[in-house]
Amino acid sequence: MRIAMIGSGYVGLVSGACFSDFGHDVVCVDKDESKIAALNAGEIPIFEPGLDHLVASNVKAKRLSFTADLAAAVREADAVFIAVGTPSRRGDGYADLSYAYGAAQEIAEALDGFTVIVNKSTVPVGTGDEVERIIRETNPKAEFAVISNPEFLREGAAIADFKHPDRIVIGSEDERGLEVMREIYRPLFLGGKSPLVEMSRRGAELTKYAGNAFLATKITFINEIADLCEKVGADVREIARGIGLDNRIGSKFLNAGPGYGGSCFPKDTIALLKTAQDFEAPQRIVEAVVAVNDNRKRAMGRKVIAAAGGDVRGKRVAILGLTFKPNTDDMRDSPSIAIIRALQDAGATIAACDPEGVDQARKVLDDVIFTDDPWEAIEGATAAVIVTEWDAYRALDLRRMRERLAQPVLVDLRNIYDRGAAEAAGLVYHAIGR
Ligand code: UDX
Repeated sequence: MRIAMIGSGYVGLVSGACFSDFGHDVVCVDKDESKIAALNAGEIPIFEPGLDHLVASNVKAKRLSFTADLAAAVREADAVFIAVGTPSRRGDGYADLSYAYGAAQEIAEALDGFTVIVNKSTVPVGTGDEVERIIRETNPKAEFAVISNPEFLREGAAIADFKHPDRIVIGSEDERGLEVMREIYRPLFLGGKSPLVEMSRRGAELTKYAGNAFLATKITFINEIADLCEKVGADVREIARGIGLDNRIGSKFLNAGPGYGGSCFPKDTIALLKTAQDFEAPQRIVEAVVAVNDNRKRAMGRKVIAAAGGDVRGKRVAILGLTFKPNTDDMRDSPSIAIIRALQDAGATIAACDPEGVDQARKVLDDVIFTDDPWEAIEGATAAVIVTEWDAYRALDLRRMRERLAQPVLVDLRNIYDRGAAEAAGLVYHAIGR
């Protein structure tokens, strides 16, 4: 199959590289000529484990290429994937679809022969209808089918998620289009590896939002149970195991922490609420999840202040981990941002480290001492706070930590240390939900 991937950002690059690895012919397109030039020079603009090798080997095999010429790529393609950004629109929280609709128009002008147009971007219910309308209006003679095929990639594990998905969701009412999609995904579902779930286009659009909202709910649920655990003297990790082994609940996404962040959950939960509002079907559970999670991030700042003795004015606090999760440089909606601001508002000086996120963090945080080295951050601090569970922070020498800290306080917002070990090292240990 010949595939054009419109948008060479996170989703486009990972999907394009993986499709080419299956043996398809893939051209990744982007408006940003400097990005295309960089990709053609072998540079990968994002941090995702394994992506550089995957891109290099498929470029070498001549199955993967990059261009700024959308029309040429579309003319040759059997399937055109739209993988452009759908950020939250400033002010009202609706998904901004201007990139997706702009792409639809450009694609329409270049269509040549029956082509499947696939929405991979996370888009609200009804976007497929609008894309179809735009294409028909722009190019009334075009033969095409518009399909929804949401992605479920986690940053840091995106290639594995793409190659071994729990399921592939395809939304279309067009049999010819479905045939093309089955052909594209054949390497994944052949032999019953990953089920192909075919449904209506609107159903597929909503599935993506419902899935992310459910996962955000699961995390928020265990976070609130963690608060209760702290009050009643239970350990949330035991509760998570105790309920998670029930197959109906499942053990994943039950790690209590400082609240979810990232490029998907915060944006998608809010966009779902907007859709719910428009269609007058309130989603009260998701409303509560969004509110609870927002409050939680700042509450974590207050937790650190309390752990440090109630007053951090003029004191240094060490933040270990800035990105919203490990193995990414992504700072979008990271809990670290709200925690650091709350501490700064209380008068603390922040020394923060992260293995990959410092460059991005500099863009969103002011007046922070950044370093790559946790020991430099910890030196002279009144408390060390683990915000992101990077492997590099999982086995720090706790005696050395106690010696370097001005006050022996470790706040572990990811539950990666053992209380006994921390206390044996002379630290006062605070965790989540235990
Ligand atoms: C998510 C979805 O998992 C993916 O399917 C979707 O397509 C995009 O959004 P991602 O945002 O990359 O992926 O990260 P994920 O691993 O899901 O974590 C999201 C946030 O939830 C992080 O801030 C993480 O720390 C938090 N989280 C996750 C928890 O606090 N506890 C958990 O048990 C799991």
